[in-house]
Amino acid sequence: MLAVATAVITGASSGFGEAFARHLAGYLKNSVKAEKVRMVLIARSEDKLNSLADELRAQSGCDVMVCPCDLADPAARAQLVEKLGGLQSEWMMLINNAGLGDYGEFISSEPERNRRMIEVNMTAPVELTRAMLPSLLQAQKAFVINIASLAADLAIPDFAMYAASKSFVASFSEALRIELKGSHVHVTAVCPGPVHTSFGDVARRTGKSKKEVPFRKWFYTSIPCVVESGLRAVLANKPRCYPSLKIRLAGLFVRNAPLWVLRLIMSSRPRRAVPAE
Ligand SMILES: NC(=O)c1ccc[n+]([C@@H]2O[C@H](COP(=O)([O-])OP(=O)(O)OC[C@H]3O[C@@H](n4cnc5c(N)ncnc54)[C@H](OP(=O)(O)O)[C@@H]3O)[C@@H](O)[C@H]2O)c1
Repeated sequence: MLAVATAVITGASSGFGEAFARHLAGYLKNSVKAEKVRMVLIARSEDKLNSLADELRAQSGCDVMVCPCDLADPAARAQLVEKLGGLQSEWMMLINNAGLGDYGEFISSEPERNRRMIEVNMTAPVELTRAMLPSLLQAQKAFVINIASLAADLAIPDFAMYAASKSFVASFSEALRIELKGSHVHVTAVCPGPVHTSFGDVARRTGKSKKEVPFRKWFYTSIPCVVESGLRAVLANKPRCYPSLKIRLAGLFVRNAPLWVLRLIMSSRPRRAVPAE
């Protein structure tokens, strides 16, 4: 029996992160059977993290560390990195999940929001992974899930910065996985398609209507599908996970279609006037 199992989850206050925390608390208690299950929950919304922590303590008897942190703030990240670097455990999982998008043309994007997207979507996973890697390598079993997106394989107009940030996450994951081959650390990039969470509301710019969000209803998958497929994939040491058959097929198409075909498809979106600066 393992003495301690630890799961570190960024973006644990809502959506996938919150669902990963609930699912993992049960999994670690019932399947891994660790004597002590430690969950580390990271996001800005301290109240939401605290109520999730209370629930996990009551339902699964977990030891929960609540770490309120703005991952777009380098100083706050540095403090968090120091704390995470000191964690030791026989079973460890890091889920780099926190992220945000920005729907709309790049010319009208806000530079500060672009900076925050870069810091949260790309810099934070890099810094957290680097800080925890020595402990992950010392653990008996260790796992890293990086939440990328179907957008990782596609340049998307009106979603340019976000898609580029997710390409970074997927590429970083693939390379890290190869570097760690031969160790017992599994690294998986999870690439969901659209899912109803607060992601869409956060990504929508002020004054824009829900209708301008680009995806059709039938293309959506569910939060449990992403969480269960993602965990299955990392435990089985799969490099990538496209949750649901339709997203797997879409990923297959995007990765195999010639660039000129993708450019043609992406250029056929409804034209919008380029605003004057
Ligand atoms: N939903 C989708 O359609 C979809 C599809 C593909 C990939 N994804 C990816 O999945 C991940 C999770 O998204 P979700 O759909 O679960 O969205 P969500 O419900 O909006 O959750 C985003 C999480 O990130 C945290 N976060 C955002 N900015 C942060 C910051 N500056 N510092 C710390 N935490 C921050 C939020 O917490 P606080 O606000 O409390 O800080 C929240 O817990 C993201 O990386 C997203 O890009 C989502």
